[in-house]
Amino acid sequence: MSRLVIVSNRVPPPRTKGAASAGGLAVALQSFVEPGTLWFGWSGRTAPETSSEPRIVEGGGVQYATIDLGTQDYARFYVGFANSSLWPLLHFRLGLMRYRREDFDGYLEVNAAFAAALRPLLREDDIVWVHDYHLMPLATALRALGFRGRIGFFLHIPFVPPSVFDALPPARGVLKALCDYDVVGFQTRTHLQDFLDCASRIGGFEVEGDDIIVAGRRVRAIADAIGIDAPGFARIAQRSTGTAYIQRVRESLIDRHLVISAERLDYSKGLPNRFEGFARLLARFPQHHRRVSMLQIAARSREEVAAYQSLRRELDRLAGDINGRFSQFDWVPLRYMTQTVARTKLAGLFRVARIGLVTPLRDGMNLVAKEFVAAQDPADPGVLILSRFAGAAEELTDALLVNPYDSDEIAEAMNTALEMSLEERQERHAALRRAVFEVTSARYCNVFVDALKG
Ligand code: F6P
Repeated sequence: MSRLVIVSNRVPPPRTKGAASAGGLAVALQSFVEPGTLWFGWSGRTAPETSSEPRIVEGGGVQYATIDLGTQDYARFYVGFANSSLWPLLHFRLGLMRYRREDFDGYLEVNAAFAAALRPLLREDDIVWVHDYHLMPLATALRALGFRGRIGFFLHIPFVPPSVFDALPPARGVLKALCDYDVVGFQTRTHLQDFLDCASRIGGFEVEGDDIIVAGRRVRAIADAIGIDAPGFARIAQRSTGTAYIQRVRESLIDRHLVISAERLDYSKGLPNRFEGFARLLARFPQHHRRVSMLQIAARSREEVAAYQSLRRELDRLAGDINGRFSQFDWVPLRYMTQTVARTKLAGLFRVARIGLVTPLRDGMNLVAKEFVAAQDPADPGVLILSRFAGAAEELTDALLVNPYDSDEIAEAMNTALEMSLEERQERHAALRRAVFEVTSARYCNVFVDALKG
């Protein structure tokens, strides 16, 4: 049987009993990886030079091979092209896109370095599954080193229509690189269609159904929604409610409804619009004063990128403004923290919350929305308010769907959720729960790997 090789920029720490704090992608894949799998990527560390030999550690029968990135490579590849060009572009934020040719060169060089370090570890019948926008040219680099096995790519963030993608100076080259994979996967049908349109209109490739024909080769494009281990997360949430931490959370709420939001501090998440939405709720529906408390967890992220620094300043100002305007001597409406919170604690917070407020301006999928649903007590569930522009909105149609740019619509949805009868909350939750328990992380992995096996 062929071995599965996973390649992603971030690699989770070797599987240990308590490794519950890894990110969504890592958690989704980790429940799928079996002994014998090889997982390759960046160590998360920088060094004077990018390492040519991977460091290999083993955990639970899985081999984790990582390389360090040279300081300059990190600046051009990660801070530069990946997170200052591709990330804003693919989240429809052309105004935030910064492009420098030297960054794109660095991006290609780091992908070549990944390929060079990975190639000696590969067996000819390996199946290689590459993840996310950092590694679009990896198949090209591996092919150049003579690897002939199957290689698939999955994009965890959105894709954009040709009129947006065309603004990227090396747009055609990036599309051509993606066509060196055997299978290219997206979270939703919308992203997949945008990619096919780009391949045809910018790449000039022939598109046949969901396949792209490049020099007689057939590249298969698929939509495959990522899911979570819903029963596992539900168990963590249930257990967490008995902990001293959640007990203290409850005490601090003094019977007030908790509104929870949790994500990385990123401009794609629509945090200022959401803060404004909460302010509108308090201004327009004063009956909720003292009855509601919002907790925003926004873990600091990509702090070297200027757009993230200015977002942080903006949020500090907005949070201060909201609390200054509405606080009373015994009620602070908005609790805002920029530290990371462990998954086990998050699960408990989701379970005690009355509202999960998930309003990204654009998102590939958004697993927080699914985790919020899985964490609820079916007898007394909270209400999910979800952006129409999160990939998850295609499946979670029983959430209160909002346009995240409209802070009045967010405020009205919060008011509806706070006033919603127990019966309606239960009905909506039952439907959401079915959707979340059906599209599991295991199903996501199986669909992709089956497509890749051909
Ligand atoms: O959402 C895309 C993604 O690459 C995830 O896979 C990852 O968890 C997240 O962004 C974190 O970003 P970074 O690696 O820049 O910290």
